[in-house]
Amino acid sequence: MSPLLHILLTLAGSCCASSQVLYPPQYTNTRIVGGEEAPEGLAPYQISLQGAASGRHSCGGAIIDERWIITAAHCTRGKQASEFRVLAGTQDLQQNATKYYYPDRIVEHCNYEPRKYRNDIALLHLNESFVFDNATQKVELDHEPLVPGSRLLLTGWGTLSLGGDVPTRLQSLEVKYVPYEQCRAAHDNSSRVDIGHVCTYNDKGRGACHGDSGGPLVHNGRLVALVNWGMPCARGYPDAHASIAYYHDFIRTHLSLTETESDPEGNPEELTVSQRGRHCS
Ligand SMILES: *[C@@H]1O[C@H](CO)[C@@H](O)[C@H](O)[C@H]1NC(C)=O
Ligand SMILES: *[C@@H]1O[C@H](CO)[C@@H](O)[C@H](O)[C@H]1NC(C)=O
Ligand SMILES: *[C@@H]1O[C@H](CO)[C@@H](O)[C@H](O)[C@H]1NC(C)=O
Ligand SMILES: *[C@@H]1O[C@H](CO)[C@@H](O)[C@H](O)[C@H]1NC(C)=O
Repeated sequence: MSPLLHILLTLAGSCCASSQVLYPPQYTNTRIVGGEEAPEGLAPYQISLQGAASGRHSCGGAIIDERWIITAAHCTRGKQASEFRVLAGTQDLQQNATKYYYPDRIVEHCNYEPRKYRNDIALLHLNESFVFDNATQKVELDHEPLVPGSRLLLTGWGTLSLGGDVPTRLQSLEVKYVPYEQCRAAHDNSSRVDIGHVCTYNDKGRGACHGDSGGPLVHNGRLVALVNWGMPCARGYPDAHASIAYYHDFIRTHLSLTETESDPEGNPEELTVSQRGRHCS
């Protein structure tokens, strides 16, 4: 048994007698509290995931390739690709001119466990390529280990107070990286925090919370995590996000599989089968 698998099994076996109630992100609008309006051009990789019919903002996400965005799995759970549209290239939800993009496929992590907040990551493939310009860009993925205290940039369309109105302008907030052991201890050793999470901390009392679910956290311009879950705001607990480095294989496998599929020399069926296990490694 690999050390990794062992740790995962151990986490699954331990339990979660936390007296604090975590709020499941799927039941709340988890948004940045205490952030500020993002300067123009700050996060050209940021997208708004919206209901195709309602046009309502539901989650954040990031552009990682011409045809791919990445978000949290709880944002796409139980939904079809056709139920979404993607707004890119603007920091203003009320803009009138921007083009929408449409997903044709959702790739949820196959070990996503909603109740355990685990492997909460999903890819959305679009039916056409992004037109990149200075307001619409992909973000590179980060694989460098973070050091305690690293400052990450969180962006999302958030309220300035819990339960407040959704502003039309993108919000941004600087948060600090918290190592796994420290994060887990802060949550009473809850198994809800696992090694696939990147934790961040916002100063208690400053009113900071966390960004839209699925929204990007960036370090030195590279994507390090996607918003997963947190405790009710500004109480001094670290928030937990899906780690891009940890899910590197899942992401890369799906992005390169698509390239292989369009390659007439390839053997897509065999590749799909042989690589399936790695999707969830
Ligand atoms: C984007 O590019 C256009 C034209 O090249 C320019 O006018 C505009 O100021 C740029 N916007 C930003 C945010 O850099
Ligand atoms: C978009 O259109 C709405 C309704 O027509 C208008 O109220 C709003 O000001 C427009 N927004 C921008 C950024 O032009
Ligand atoms: C993508 O999907 C949307 C919504 O179904 C559709 O309107 C659009 O024509 C599609 N674009 C392409 C290139 O197929
Ligand atoms: C969490 O686990 C660590 C190490 O096993 C232990 O020292 C600590 O007391 C535990 N904290 C709680 C709140 O259970």
